Amino acid sequence: MLHLIDHPLISAELACVRDPGCPSFEFRQRVRRIASLMVPAVTADLEVSVIPCNTPLEITVGNKIQRQIILVPILRAGLGFLDGFLDLIPQAAVAHIGLARNEETLQPEAYYLKHPTPLEEADLILLDPMLATGGSAVHALNTLYEAGAKRIRFVSLLAAPEGVATVRAAHPAVAIFTAAIDRCLSEKGFILPGLGDAGDRLFGTI
Ligand code: PRP
Repeated sequence: MLHLIDHPLISAELACVRDPGCPSFEFRQRVRRIASLMVPAVTADLEVSVIPCNTPLEITVGNKIQRQIILVPILRAGLGFLDGFLDLIPQAAVAHIGLARNEETLQPEAYYLKHPTPLEEADLILLDPMLATGGSAVHALNTLYEAGAKRIRFVSLLAAPEGVATVRAAHPAVAIFTAAIDRCLSEKGFILPGLGDAGDRLFGTI
């Protein structure tokens, strides 16, 4: 399932972050804002249970989110999405996966993993602003499923059609949410038109 979150507030922010003149501090703020704007669509089908609920006047019913939510940013760029999600889901736990894409082979190389246990009963939201070849997303999904996760959704800011196809082929049950589907990948594996290297732009390591 591919969900394109098409919203004027998001696309206006996206136009600003694509601009190479957008400095890191502003890039971080705008990506964080986009992340928050994506949260309602990403979480719209979370399961809830009905619970009794007091008001000052009487007893009524309300909803309770059924499962623990675990946000999983793929380091580094996924960190840019994290605070925007935590702003709206402050009760979430956070797992971290460190992956660096080898610039020659474009294959992800894992360097860190830390997650709460168990994962079986949680709803996981995997975060990475860039879905390029899809190698990092598939590696992260494989890792989380091997660690016991049962329910994972994936959120990106920009996706290349190649990356969407790769994730769908490897994990057809995973819902993919993105704010834009760009044209294609460059020979070096960059999303076109894209926004450059999200990790470098977030952290000023250009
Ligand atoms: C970039 C990007 C994604 C990944 C996408 O990260 O932030 O994580 O590549 O590429 P893929 O879909 O082809 O796997 P990078 O490895 O450059 O690390 P960084 O986030 O630390 O900059």
